[in-house]
Amino acid sequence: MTKKRKLKLKSSARKPLVIISAVVVVIIIILAFYFNRIGELKNLGYSEEAAKSIIFKFKYSYIMDIGENKTLNAAFESDVYIEDNLDNYAKVDYENQKHLIRNINKLLDKGYSVNEVNLIISKGDDKSVSEFTKRDKVKYIEEFLSIDFAKLENLDRYVEYQDKENDDAETTVLYVNMDFDKEDYVDPLVIDDFDDYVLVNKHRQLSSEYVPDDLVKIKDEYVKTDEDVEIERNVAKAFYDMAEAASKDGMELMVSSGYRSYKDQEEITNTYLELYGQNYVDNYVAKPGFSEHQTAMSLDIASKSVNTFVESDEYTWMMDNAYKYGFILRYPRSKEDITGYKCEAWHYRYVGKKIAKYIKENNITYDEYYVMFLDD
Ligand code: DAL
Ligand code: ZN
Repeated sequence: MTKKRKLKLKSSARKPLVIISAVVVVIIIILAFYFNRIGELKNLGYSEEAAKSIIFKFKYSYIMDIGENKTLNAAFESDVYIEDNLDNYAKVDYENQKHLIRNINKLLDKGYSVNEVNLIISKGDDKSVSEFTKRDKVKYIEEFLSIDFAKLENLDRYVEYQDKENDDAETTVLYVNMDFDKEDYVDPLVIDDFDDYVLVNKHRQLSSEYVPDDLVKIKDEYVKTDEDVEIERNVAKAFYDMAEAASKDGMELMVSSGYRSYKDQEEITNTYLELYGQNYVDNYVAKPGFSEHQTAMSLDIASKSVNTFVESDEYTWMMDNAYKYGFILRYPRSKEDITGYKCEAWHYRYVGKKIAKYIKENNITYDEYYVMFLDD
């Protein structure tokens, strides 16, 4: 009897053990499966957070078909993910913007096409796109924003400028980005992020305190003025290279002006104002803060022997060769409407060899080059 009871106890204890083991095995299999899929998604470039969300939303196969997609990654990481927008998320190029998914949702909801959403997001930043989503649906998105260097924040200005000037869309975007819809010196951009490519013109101002940090004195033998001339170190090097090459061609290049402080420019403006009047100053002299000379990236070039530079051989040599050393004629005759200055045969800006070559070959100004390729 005792033996029989013992056997019974054993059999009833085995059953739960089998069930528990089975459950554990199933859990292990599910977990292995789960972690395997997480691993696969991570290998595709999805974050752990996105990968989990993809699996729990049953979109594993969908994502495996699509492959790596940063916008989808952001969508699955986001807490405003909308299932109905999934195919559209996949078609929007990723931008590193905090409210990317929320803004895509809002724009799609307003009736913008995926192409328009793409343009809006790529031509704005998080702030301007977020603001834009609050507006009623706007027309002319593709007309203007499909131009490479268009900016979302300027869209209304493009529309207004084109209404007035009737230029084609590309010219309109270029001109508005150069602030041609504003008066000279009115509401200028104050430059706070200075680098060697800085653009200074009648719409872009340096602070009165700005002083470049690597100024060197140009060697006396190259200076055609009573005062010392200072310039940025790399510009000096490029000038010496250029002057040496020029001398091999029998040219004697010199400089008559380089870095000018805000105060120097103030004095120059007042001197020319007294000598030649306001009209001359408007055409040839930048207001303090608006002179490229304050950047220390510009030189006024002179000829050792001929006082009127434009009549010298050095002038012709510079026109043909300056770009090889990284210098551009900053205010050419054919571009007065764009630069806002009358031609200055002597004023050269250092921009480096690559940019100088592009500007020379394409016959454009630095103002245009900057807007097309360097402005962000
Ligand atoms: N002459 C140039 C425009 C300047 O004053 O900076
Ligand atoms: Zn100058």
